[in-house]
Amino acid sequence: MKDLFDFEIPRQRFAVVGHPVAHSKSPQIHQAFAEQCGLKIGYDAIQLDRGGFIQGIRNLQAGGFKGLNVTLPFKEEARAVSDELSDRARIAGAVNTILFADDGTVFGDNTDGAGLVFDIQDNMGIKLTGRRLLLVGAGGAARGAVQPLLETGLAALSITNRTAERARRLAVDFQQIGSVQALAIEQVGGQRFDVVVNATSAGLSGQVPELPNTIFSDGAIAYDMLYSNHPTPFMLWARSCGVSHAADGLGMLVEQAAESFFLWNNVRPKTDSVIQSLRSGS
Ligand code: ATR
Repeated sequence: MKDLFDFEIPRQRFAVVGHPVAHSKSPQIHQAFAEQCGLKIGYDAIQLDRGGFIQGIRNLQAGGFKGLNVTLPFKEEARAVSDELSDRARIAGAVNTILFADDGTVFGDNTDGAGLVFDIQDNMGIKLTGRRLLLVGAGGAARGAVQPLLETGLAALSITNRTAERARRLAVDFQQIGSVQALAIEQVGGQRFDVVVNATSAGLSGQVPELPNTIFSDGAIAYDMLYSNHPTPFMLWARSCGVSHAADGLGMLVEQAAESFFLWNNVRPKTDSVIQSLRSGS
């Protein structure tokens, strides 16, 4: 039997778009947020063809969707299709959240970096101010994290990458915003870091970025932006280096979703119960 509410309250429609997207946890996360906030929403996972992104976005806008999450490989195209960008999306060069305004404007935001910072500071309870942080990787995931990390007041932000030149370019791009230092892998060995964030995609193929095992300071944390039902290769490697506090990116996923939810619905949901239920597989 249909719930009377289905007829009385207009449902706002949202979706995550990507390729592939079938295994996305976003529908589950956003429905949990909506329930918590007493909202009725529709949230789908929609696979768009590579090469069909812009038409797909236009169709969803015409179809009355209010907002979209954008995942790989479309985050840069989403920036290009946006009429207006938040500062953090412009600086990251990528959009993971779209809001279709009532006047037809496509507004692009990027909540990934904020999600990372929320997870480390609020969920793990590690204040980043005054810490020395090493960001490993120089692709889109790393780029999106730099500005939100700088805003926390780190003592030092260093970036290293398998291809040193990409790390150097990333650091140069951010030099107006804060102090970012690019280090070749060989230079990393002589230093110690309080937080090491893996923003590479190495774990997708079961690999760990090559790093010296001496980079962690006492009590350091290791954070992998990837997440998995099992400890990731990077987490296992960090533990083998003596790190007791290693985390994957599940919390970041939920926190970036909460930031998107806030943009669309003007209310920021609580995340801890959602993280817990995803972690327990329920
Ligand atoms: P994303 O948008 O997920 O960041 P990307 O732009 O393709 O994806 O970047 C992938 C990052 O992971 C890069 O920093 C890449 O290093 P290179 O610039 O040298 O290619 C890094 N990466 C991928 N596989 C890796 C591996 N096996 N070891 C170390 N770094 C790896």
